[in-house]
Amino acid sequence: MNVQTDLGSVMTSVAQAKGLPNAHYISDEVFEEEKQAVLFDQWAGIGVGNDVPEIGDARPVEFLGMPLLVVRDRDGEVGVFQNTCRHRGMILVTEPRKIEGAIRCPYHSWCYSLKGALKSTPHVGGPGRNTHDDIKRSELGLVRIRSHVWNDVIFVNVNGNAAPFEEVHANLLARWAEFDVPMVHGGATSSFKLEVETNWKLAVENYCESYHLPWVHPGLNSYSRLEDHYNIEVPGAYSGQGTLVYRQLKGDAGEVFPDFTTHSKQWDEGAEYIAIYPNVLLGLHRDHFYSIVLEPKSLDRTVEHVEIYYSKEGAASEALTPLRDANATLWEGVFVEDVFVVEGMQKGRQGTFFDGGKFSPEMDGPTHNFHHWVASKVDEARRR
Ligand code: FES
Ligand SMILES: [Fe+2]
Repeated sequence: MNVQTDLGSVMTSVAQAKGLPNAHYISDEVFEEEKQAVLFDQWAGIGVGNDVPEIGDARPVEFLGMPLLVVRDRDGEVGVFQNTCRHRGMILVTEPRKIEGAIRCPYHSWCYSLKGALKSTPHVGGPGRNTHDDIKRSELGLVRIRSHVWNDVIFVNVNGNAAPFEEVHANLLARWAEFDVPMVHGGATSSFKLEVETNWKLAVENYCESYHLPWVHPGLNSYSRLEDHYNIEVPGAYSGQGTLVYRQLKGDAGEVFPDFTTHSKQWDEGAEYIAIYPNVLLGLHRDHFYSIVLEPKSLDRTVEHVEIYYSKEGAASEALTPLRDANATLWEGVFVEDVFVVEGMQKGRQGTFFDGGKFSPEMDGPTHNFHHWVASKVDEARRR
């Protein structure tokens, strides 16, 4: 049933390679195939810890049709479960809310702890009897989905078959190790989303490269020119771009955000923008960090969830609220500038004679790196 697209021409060097065939953007069958091979088999982002800030907070998330429940338990840890009751399959939580006692199924009241353990089963052994020998509670806890939180992003490996997160992303963890410090979310305005009519991969592909800056982001380009950027390409894991001329945002009185940490010199005027495969886009600066979790709604609809973070040392103070708001507005403006290209590339892929395109060996390497990764994951799954 699968459309057997030609991936050989994608998995070669950037100078020779074509992009992914059109079917990877416009075919429902390939979308389903990628859902398993590229999203459920990998560590995909589904949200952030800030979505469930307090103990007992629970938030249902539908990830590519799969009902998930994100919970912050009594230890303050984030857990992810299948949002389905083990009894007769009722959906458990339908709105974000605070769980006071247990997660109670609204159908027959089976109750689960915040760690997913089945705690009570009223009348399961007949009226007035809450136990039955055949109902082994220890075997009927909520199905836990493998998850890992890094920089507040909640990653899940739905199919449970990926190598550990720290192993898959060892390279990036080492690259940004000096910023492995506590961060705080910037508050209400530091959280926003954009709905775009595009396949989620095109948002990744556009994010990776700086080639488009002069035309799509003339404002940015006025101080951060093409030649001030470098490509970032790590096969099998991530790609993106870095700048050498990051300038801190300044308020009217010359105030700036405090730095995350004592950083090495590279970060004085450097910043990096990295797409961690498959679907999370990150931006790291000396004084703020953001994540964009791409939520694939369907073949050609994606929601970009943006969250901005600051140093624990006073950056979230009342006094800096206007500066945080200005920073959020600035980034939103930049991300909005990208919408017409990601939507335009989606439309362009209806052109029957488009053959995946031709990469610039100098400028499109990071995007090709992503295509190569997608193609390898789909290819591996096809061989299995
Ligand atoms: S379906 Fe949940 S208790 Fe019956
Ligand atoms: Fe852009």
